[in-house]
This record gives sequence, structure tokens and C-alpha cells, in this order.
Amino acid sequence: MTEKLAGQEVSSASLAQREAQRLREEFQKLYAQEARIFRAPGRVNLIGEHTDYNEGFVMPVAMDMYTWVAAAPRKDSRVHVYSQNLGERADMDLQHLNLQVLRHWSAYVLGVAASLRISGEEVGGANLLVEGKVPMGAGLSSSASVEVAAGYALLESSGLSLSPVELAKICQRAENEFAGARCGIMDQMIACCGRANYALLLDCRTLEFQLLPLFSDAQFVVCNSMVKHDHAAGEYNARRADCETATRILAGQMPGVRALRDVSVADLERHAQLLPEVVYRRSRHVISENARVLAAREALERGDPESFGRLMRESHRSLKEDYEVSSTELDLLVEIAGEIAGVYGSRMTGGGFGGCTISLVRSEVVEEFQSAVARGYQRATGRKPDIYIVRASDGVREVLE
Ligand code: GLA
Repeated sequence: MTEKLAGQEVSSASLAQREAQRLREEFQKLYAQEARIFRAPGRVNLIGEHTDYNEGFVMPVAMDMYTWVAAAPRKDSRVHVYSQNLGERADMDLQHLNLQVLRHWSAYVLGVAASLRISGEEVGGANLLVEGKVPMGAGLSSSASVEVAAGYALLESSGLSLSPVELAKICQRAENEFAGARCGIMDQMIACCGRANYALLLDCRTLEFQLLPLFSDAQFVVCNSMVKHDHAAGEYNARRADCETATRILAGQMPGVRALRDVSVADLERHAQLLPEVVYRRSRHVISENARVLAAREALERGDPESFGRLMRESHRSLKEDYEVSSTELDLLVEIAGEIAGVYGSRMTGGGFGGCTISLVRSEVVEEFQSAVARGYQRATGRKPDIYIVRASDGVREVLE
């Protein structure tokens, strides 16, 4: 794989080496120590939105944008972290864990340290330097990439290791308990288990996953609305609460039901009159979205981008009308994409209320797609969208010299 740097073709591997070297030097200046370098990717979800916390199915891909962490052990029990993005420091003593929600960037790092200790992992003190290259608030999971990169770095610096699934669970716990967001497991799982050239079909109940090769003649393209989902946590938690209400009511009628994952469309229709109208629509989204993920897997397996694209369009409609997590800008991006020949489908991706869309585009028209979307969106909103062609990447790794 090659990329352009100052007009020159360079391999992605050598770009990673340069980045790692730069971080080693920064770290040396900051802590006067040699560092090891780790990085964890952001992600984009192809389909399966708001299904993870309903124990359903999702299909994310790890993207080639990363949070980088330089790390070295300390002799005492403190974790020091410096954020290169913010130019700020924070620290914590592992012997005196502060077990409270901290609405501060450092929760994504120190919360993971605390979560590791609570889970019985005897990580020791460490110096960390964090540099995030995943856009924040764009629905590309910058927070999970910070958590996973930091968690992996803390473990490695202490000579410990954990399975990717265990690390994902500990990072999710950190976000739930210390950053105060009740996120599901999708983002942490893909940051840990992503694989270059593959999407991950994840069962969020069992955490079993299947790697699926992407289409050979169509590309996934991400368009960033440039509207951050800054204040969406309350809405997110409210959607979760609606799903819990639905589960409680439906479980009263069907004893085997533990989550909306266990409910079919026919079951929902049979008991529709028991549910408040909004709760009914939320449930209809989750249940139909789970079915779409499984149908999308089949479309991917038989190399059928037409069907995959149709499922993406249906997913968007359901997220917009039933789950009500889209936004004017996301709808506009989807609409513009839908008018371009060679686009199979488009939908909002991630939690919603801002952030990005994802589109499936015939390979030959990707360039045309990029300029048409940029033109149309900028004309309507005055904002220039960032557009990324998805290159499925590996999960968390050490970047060796
Ligand atoms: C956020 C959460 C995920 C998932 C998505 C919606 O990204 O962190 O767990 O719920 O929203 O699919």
C-alpha cells in the first residue's frame, strides 16, 4: 500500500515508521526515557446501528486512522499522560483509584488504567504520550481508539497480555463507568480485533465474530458532515432506555426474551399495542436492523453490492424515521449520494446526531463521487466535507522499529 507525502509515493509501513520515530523523540523530550509505540484504529460501521447494546449484530471495519500511544514503565505506581492534541497533562495513582465519572479527556486513558486494575490486571505505573489522529466527534470512534491504544500500551509496559476480546470488554467498562457514556461493545471490539482487508461480522451477545472480505469492485466511502455529535450522549442513553423498556414489556409476554435480539418482527407486531408508540418504533428499528445485518453478510459473501446498497438505504430510513438519530446534514449527504450514478447505497453511520455517512460506490466512479458530494454539500451548507476511502486495517498493534 502506498500513500503520498509531499508529492512522493511512500509505503504506509514507512509512513508508520516515521510517525513512530517522531513520537519516540517527543517522548524522549517529555520524559527522558525510551518509549515503545502502539496504535489502535478508529472504525466505521458498514451496517448494524444501535444494535450492539441490544445484543444484536454489527458489521464494522477498522479504518487506517489511529490513536498513537508512546509508553514506558515508571518505578512508582503512578500513570502520567500527556495529550499531544490538547497540550495537557493528567495523572493518577494506581494505589488510590478514583472511581468516579470524570467528564474529562483523561477519563479515556486513566479510566482504562483503573478498569484494568479493577479487573485484576496488575498493571504498574507508566508514562504515556497520546496523539489522536481519528477525528473527534465524527462518529469514527476516536474514544475507543484512545482506550484500546492506552489499555494495550499499559499492559505491554507491565509485561502483561490479554486476549483482544478481554481488552475490549475492559475498555468498554472504562467508558461506561468512568467516562459516563453507556456505549455498547462494537467500537472497542473492532479497535481490538479489526483485520486489514476485512469487515467484522460481530455477534454482540456471544462476542463471536466472522471476518468478511470486502467487495472487489466497489468501495466504501465515508463523508464527514463536519457537524460534531458533541451533545448526543443524553439522546444515546435515552435510546438505550427505550430499548430496555421494550425488552421489559416484551419479556413479560415472552419469557425467553433477554434483549431485543430475541424478538422477531412478527413478535413485535403481535404485542405492538402494549408498547408506547415511540418505544414501538425504536424496537422496530433494532429488530429490522439486525435482520439487515444478516442479509448484508449474505450480500457480501455472494459479491452482490446492489443488495448491500439497498440494505444501507433501508437502514438509513429506519434510523431517520424510527430511531430518530439522523440530522439534516446526514440526510442531505445521503440524498446527494443517492443521486450519483454508480452509488449502490448510503446511510448515516455511528451513533448519529452528526458525524459521518458511509456509501458503497462502484470503484470506477469513486473520484467522481468525491467531487460531486463535496460540491453539492458545500453548496447547500457552506461546509466542505472531509471524504475518506475506507481501507480496512488491523486492530491494535505495537509499531516496531
Ligand atoms: C456509538 C457506540 C456504539 C454503538 C453505536 C451505534 O458508536 O459507542 O457502541 O452503539 O454508537 O451503533
